[in-house]
Amino acid sequence: MNILVTGGAGFIGSHTCVELLQNGYEVIILDNYYNSSPDAVKAIEKITGKSVKTYETDMLDKDGVEQVFAENNIDAVIHFAGLKAVGESVQKPMFYYHTNLEGTINIIEAMERHQVKKFVFSSSATVYGMNNPSPYVEGMPLSATNPYGWTKLMIEQMLCDACVAHPDWHVALLRYFNPIGAHASGLIGEKPNGIPNNLMPYITMVAAGKLDHLNIFGGDYDTPDGTGVRDYIHVCDLAVGHIKALDKLDQIQGARAFNLGTGVGYSVLDIVHAFEKANNLKIPYEITDRRPGDLPSYFADTTRAYQELGFKTQHSLEDMCRSSWNFVKHLYQQ
Ligand code: NAD
Ligand code: UD1
Repeated sequence: MNILVTGGAGFIGSHTCVELLQNGYEVIILDNYYNSSPDAVKAIEKITGKSVKTYETDMLDKDGVEQVFAENNIDAVIHFAGLKAVGESVQKPMFYYHTNLEGTINIIEAMERHQVKKFVFSSSATVYGMNNPSPYVEGMPLSATNPYGWTKLMIEQMLCDACVAHPDWHVALLRYFNPIGAHASGLIGEKPNGIPNNLMPYITMVAAGKLDHLNIFGGDYDTPDGTGVRDYIHVCDLAVGHIKALDKLDQIQGARAFNLGTGVGYSVLDIVHAFEKANNLKIPYEITDRRPGDLPSYFADTTRAYQELGFKTQHSLEDMCRSSWNFVKHLYQQ
C-alpha cells in the first residue's frame, strides 16, 4: 500500500513514517520543510533501512500537489502538514487559515481527482474547547478558542462534508492529546526552535543549559499539586495509532473521530520530577502566573480508540522523559 504522508519530515510525521515502513507500507513524503529538514528523511531511512520517495512541495502549490498524486498510485493519505503554534495563530490568523485550510483543500481536491478514498487527519484535543469536563469523549460538543483550534475544527467539518458527498470515503479524525518523547534511536524527535512554548521542549532546553529555568504557569489550579494537568502520550505510541487507524479504515464509514491519549493526566510538577528522575538531572523552576487561555486539567477517554482500533499505549512517562532528553542531548553534542 502506498501512503502519502504530508508533513512526513515533522515531529509526529517522521515517527509515523518509521512505523509505516516497519509495517510494510510504502511511504511518499510531501513536505516543504517549513518546520523540519531533509535530515529527518535521512534519519527515517537510516532507522528503517528503506528509502522514501520525497517531494519538497508546498501543499499550497496546487500543481505541485497534483504532480505528487499523478506520479504515484496513492492508496491513502495521512495529513500532518500544517502550522501548529497556538500563540502565533493569534498573532497571524490569516496565515493559519490560509495555510491549514487551503492546503488541506488542495489535498482533498487532488484525492477527488485521483479517486483516493482513505484519509487520516491530525486533529487535536483543542477541539474540545474550554467547557467540557474530563475525560473528553469524542461525542462531546466541540469549539475552539484560537485560530489554530478553529482550523482543526473547520478541517474536521470539511472532512465530514466530503464524506457526505463521497459515501465510499473512509476518514479517521485523530485527536492527539500532548505528544512528547522521541524515537529510541535518538535520530528523530522534536527540535526546540527558538524559545519553545510547549512544556517538554522547554524542559529539554533547560536541561541542555540553554535556558536557566522553567516557568511553571500557575501553581494554584484546582489540581492535586496546583499545577496544570495534561494527558501526555509518547510520540511512538501516537505513530502506532496511525497504523491502527489505517488498518481499520475499511470498517470506518464516513468520518469518525478518535482520541489518541493515554487516559491518564500528569501535572507539570509530575513531568518535571519524572524528567529529573529518568535522566538524573535537576530542572530549576519557578512558579509564575497562569498562562492566558490554559485549562486547569484535561485528559482523554480512550475507550473508542481501544474498542474500535485496538489502540493501547505501551510507553511509560519515564520512557517519554528519557527519550525526549536522549534526542535533544544528541543535538547539542553534534
Ligand atoms: P511539525 O511542525 O513538526 O510537522 C508539520 C510538518 O508540516 C513539518 O515538517 C512542516 O515542514 C510541514 N509543513 C508545514 N507547512 C507546510 C506546507 N504549507 N506544505 C507542506 N508541508 C508543510 O508538527 P507536528 O508536531 O509533527 O504536528 C503534525 C500535525 O499534528 C499538525 O497538523 C499539528 O497541528 C497536529 N498536532 C500536533 C500536536 C503536537 O503537540 N505536536 C498536537 C495536536 C495536533
Ligand atoms: C498546547 C496548545 C494546544 C496544542 C498542544 C500541542 C495552548 C493553549 N494549547 O497545549 O492547542 O494542541 O499545545 O501539544 O497553547 N507549561 C508550563 N511552562 C511552560 C510550558 C508549559 O508550565 O513553559 C504548562 C502549561 O501551562 C500546561 C502544560 O505545561 O499546563 C502543557 O503545556 P503545553 O506543552 O504548552 O501544551 P498545552 O498547553 O496543553
